[in-house]
Formats: sequence, structure tokens, C-alpha cells
Amino acid sequence: MGIVLGIESSCDETAAALVDSDRRVLAQRIASQDEAHRPYGGVVPEIAARAHAERLAPLIEAVLEEAGLGLADVDAIAATAGPGLIGGVMVGLVTAKALAMAADRPLIAINHLEGHALSPRLADASLQFPYLLLLVSGGHCQLLEVRGVGQFRRLGTTIDDALGEAFDKTAKILGLGYPGGPAVERLALQGDAKAVPLPRPLLGSAEPHFSFAGLKSAVLRAKEAGIHANADIAAAFQQAAIDCVIDRTRKALGIAEAPTALVVAGGVAANKAVRGALEALAGQHGLPFVAPPPALCTDNAAMIAWAGIERLGQDDPLDFVARPRWPLDPDAAPARGAGVKA
Ligand code: KG4
Ligand code: ZN
Repeated sequence: MGIVLGIESSCDETAAALVDSDRRVLAQRIASQDEAHRPYGGVVPEIAARAHAERLAPLIEAVLEEAGLGLADVDAIAATAGPGLIGGVMVGLVTAKALAMAADRPLIAINHLEGHALSPRLADASLQFPYLLLLVSGGHCQLLEVRGVGQFRRLGTTIDDALGEAFDKTAKILGLGYPGGPAVERLALQGDAKAVPLPRPLLGSAEPHFSFAGLKSAVLRAKEAGIHANADIAAAFQQAAIDCVIDRTRKALGIAEAPTALVVAGGVAANKAVRGALEALAGQHGLPFVAPPPALCTDNAAMIAWAGIERLGQDDPLDFVARPRWPLDPDAAPARGAGVKA
């Protein structure tokens, strides 16, 4: 039995949560910075770091109070230590170090991507290793074999944009504002996906990598043609993206070694159409499909606290340095055609 305080600050959500080893979320708070970044159409790192610094301490106080606990009742303090916007990561990690020192509790430095990757196990106690994970967020788009805590084999990644990034850019092109994913999903419900022909990059290629830059450019051209309804473009984009995701994931299912389930995590996993298509694919392969509830898909601290529970006993030193880049599978070969992004 253990209780972990989790802290998340790697992008534009400031969050704190208390989770125990019985998978109970004792308390959690998230302060979104959407309003602060909206005028810029994306996350501004400096604004994000300042907002984290202002908001984090009161959030931590609030979750402790809500759970009726003090720091002395907590078995470890887990914080996202990368990858992400480094200013924000440093705010969360330094706060966690200070609390760990003050309360004489161990620090556990969490890879944000591992937080996403293990979040389905917080939601579903029956999920066992190994599983095939589609990790789709604003910064990442990967197919991973999750063999255990800290044990990942990357089967595929994007050679340009992440899937969430493609949703956000489509939203921007259509004038839907920021953050874009949920807005595109809502508008797509009213559109006809067949009304706008769009490409499906890398469909059928041998390795399960992704590419969304060409799709995004095609969305821009469709918009600039001035003849399509926004809803039709949104629906066509979402369908093209889903066709790519399903084809690439099917390919990965053929490579993965005896996965117990098909699992999706990360912000884009909140999308109902994406979830529905993946569930059907899992069914075709006779596998269970596991997706965390939407609130656990987008950035949150419960998943960081849960990763801390999974890592309880594996303390990190107080001089652990925040990492702007931190791949889950450092041995993975770069995807052919990959640019500077990972
Ligand atoms: O995991 P997350 O909250 O932050 C990162 O670590 O990146 O993912 C955020 C991404 C954004 O690109 C957002 O547009 C996308 O997830 N997203 C969605 C939906 N909800 C969030 N994309 C499509 N449909 C959604 N419902
Ligand atoms: Zn994330």
C-alpha cells in the first residue's frame, strides 16, 4: 500500500494529484492555461513556465487538503522530469525536490511519456504487460510495445508532425482556435468525410511509421480552394488521419510479440472516432481494447502519480536534471525520412 503525490507541468496544464496503490485517485486538480495561450494560437513556453510557477503550490495544497492528508502521509513525490517545455518541467521538478527534501520523502522523476503509457493500467487493473500502445499526443505519435515499467520497444514513430499537432494545425487553418483537437472532432460530426479528397500518407508502407505533414498541407489547399464547407474539411481530415492510424497500427500488431491488448493513450485518445476505429481493429485481432477515460488521456497529474506508484522504491537523486528530450526507447533506430523532431 502506498500513496504518491504527482506533479505535471511539461506543457500547458499545471496539475497535482494523489493516487494510491489501490488505483484510487484521492484528489486531483488541473489548471489549464488555454486562455493565456489562445491569443497566440499555440503554447508560448515563457508564459507557460510563469503560469506553472504561480499556480503549482496552491494546487498541491488543495489536493492535500481535499484528501485530508499531509506530506508526511505521502510515500513519494513524483514529478514529470521531461520531455517537454523545459521551463515548465523545471518548475514542477524543483517543486517536487523541495517538497521531498522538506518532508524527507523520496523523489521519483517521471518520464511524461511513461505517464501516458502506464495511464491505462490506472484505469484498468486487468491490463497486463506486454501490450501494444498507440501513444498519440500533441508532441508524440508512436507505436510502442510496452513490456514493463521502463521497458519499451518503439515500433513506429512520426517522421514529421504528431497526430495532435495535425489536429491543432487543421483547427488553426479552419479558424477553430486553440486547442484544436476537440473543436475539430465536434465540427467533423456535422461534415461529410467523402466531400473532400485528402491523401493518406505512408498508407501500406512496410514499417509502422506515421507522416501527417502532407495531410496538413492538403487541408490548407482544400481550405484555400474556397469551395468546401469547414465541417466537410474537418470530417475528411479526421477520417484520413484515422485511416492512417488504423493502417499503421494494424502493421504494428503484425510485428508486436504476443500483446495482451491494444491500448491507446495521450490527448488524441480522447477522440471518440479514433477510439471507435481502434476498438474495431482490436476486435478484428481478437484482442481487448483499453483506453483510459478522456480526462486521463489529456495531460494530468493522476497519470504521473500512478507512474510513481508503479516505480515505488525506485528513488531518484535530488540532483536529477530536467530533460527536454527523453525517448522511451533510446535504442530505436530513427525513422527513415525523419527530420529534426522525434
Ligand atoms: O497529451 P496531451 O494533453 O498533451 C501532450 O502531451 O501533447 O495532448 C494534447 C493534444 C493536442 O494536440 C490536442 O489537440 C489533442 O491532444 N486532443 C485531441 C482531442 N483532445 C485533445 N485531438 C483530437 N480529438 C480530441 N478530442
Ligand atoms: Zn502529454
